[in-house]
Amino acid sequence: MYCEDVAVADIAAKVGTPFYLYSAATLKRHFNAFDSGFDGIEHLTCFAVKACSNISILHQFAGMGGGADIVSGGELFRAMKAGIDPSKIIYSGVGKTEAEMREALFAGILLFNVESAQELDRLQKVAAELGTKAPVSFRINPDVDPKTHAYISTGLAKNKFGIPVDEALQEYVRAQAMENIEVLGVSCHIGSQLTQVEPFIEALRKIKIFVGRLQAEGIKIKYLDLGGGVGITYDDEEPPHPHVYAEAVKNELQGMDCTLILEPGRVIVGNAGILVTEVQYTKVNSGGKSKKRFIVVDAAMNDLTRPSLYGAFHEILPIRKTDRKKQEVDVVGPICETGDFLARDRLLPEARQGELMAVMSCGAYGFTMSSNYNSRTRVAEILVNSDQVHIIRRREDYDDLIRGESLVEVT
Ligand code: LLP
Repeated sequence: MYCEDVAVADIAAKVGTPFYLYSAATLKRHFNAFDSGFDGIEHLTCFAVKACSNISILHQFAGMGGGADIVSGGELFRAMKAGIDPSKIIYSGVGKTEAEMREALFAGILLFNVESAQELDRLQKVAAELGTKAPVSFRINPDVDPKTHAYISTGLAKNKFGIPVDEALQEYVRAQAMENIEVLGVSCHIGSQLTQVEPFIEALRKIKIFVGRLQAEGIKIKYLDLGGGVGITYDDEEPPHPHVYAEAVKNELQGMDCTLILEPGRVIVGNAGILVTEVQYTKVNSGGKSKKRFIVVDAAMNDLTRPSLYGAFHEILPIRKTDRKKQEVDVVGPICETGDFLARDRLLPEARQGELMAVMSCGAYGFTMSSNYNSRTRVAEILVNSDQVHIIRRREDYDDLIRGESLVEVT
């Protein structure tokens, strides 16, 4: 297996395993594939930093004119370090603290996506203290079923996100009267890993009707933010091509005079990255009638949480092609939990100790959701560009594990 011009095995020999591996060419191609769909209309692609937040990768998107969708002060810090223009940064999330609001106001971001009445009051207060005006968009909860995993559905009335359409109008009117708030936009994000265009369009139609009501109140909307991008293929999903999605959106937007904002994450980075891991042991546990084969690898649920957390499917491929016969196996990590698996009941060619495997489609919500559970050091991130191999995050060492801790003696 190669990443651009470099054999994955050569990288493993150099940096050890496990590691996340990204292709710069694929990142570029995917960013352009998404962004170019909206050519011809005023738009801004704000990459969802939470999907993959390494500053080298954010920097690459900045160079292609990309902005950032952030959800914390930490992500603001990263985006700025990566050279993303603050006037292209939008700030989403239901729990912004006063300190985070101050940081974002100070940076001069494009928009706060406000998600509640109390958040609006707090933002007015913080902006007044700083003697500035906060640029605001409200995140509307359109009550649309995105038909995706329950944990990543965000646009249903029962989800914590956004303000219900029926209550939003009064918040706009209130905001309009606030001295330190500048009302500029409307936003929504109904969920992630959507494999159909229809829920996006259903949400957009509701937003359009709402924008009409705002206009009737004399409130003008400059920015319309449609949230995250389309889903990707992990297994046999057939999500719409970004251009199909873009055409449908452009069609629906006709006659509206505003700049479109998009917050794609997964569709750009998901299939631009893999996790490379080494087989440590193979074993068979049998008892009674059951016989179960395991491949124990050196990556675990702390490195890639998606299979354990969402039951997500990630294809697993041996790094070297093989004709060996396939067996049904669980691919598991070293963590002391039965929930620690990367794949279950999967047909894979027989694997041997020391061999390398690639866990595919790991570029989005892979490294960013990793942790130090079981005091495992977080893995390295590698970016390949043609024949160049860059370590864009070194593997953590043991000192990293206790950084910030103090040894206190209690008697
Ligand atoms: N904008 C907002 C406000 C979001 O909350 C998200 C994702 C996005 C944009 C980007 O959505 P995307 O284009 O990536 O679909 N950890 C989960 C996914 C959580 C998504 C959270 N919000 C996973 O691994 O599947």
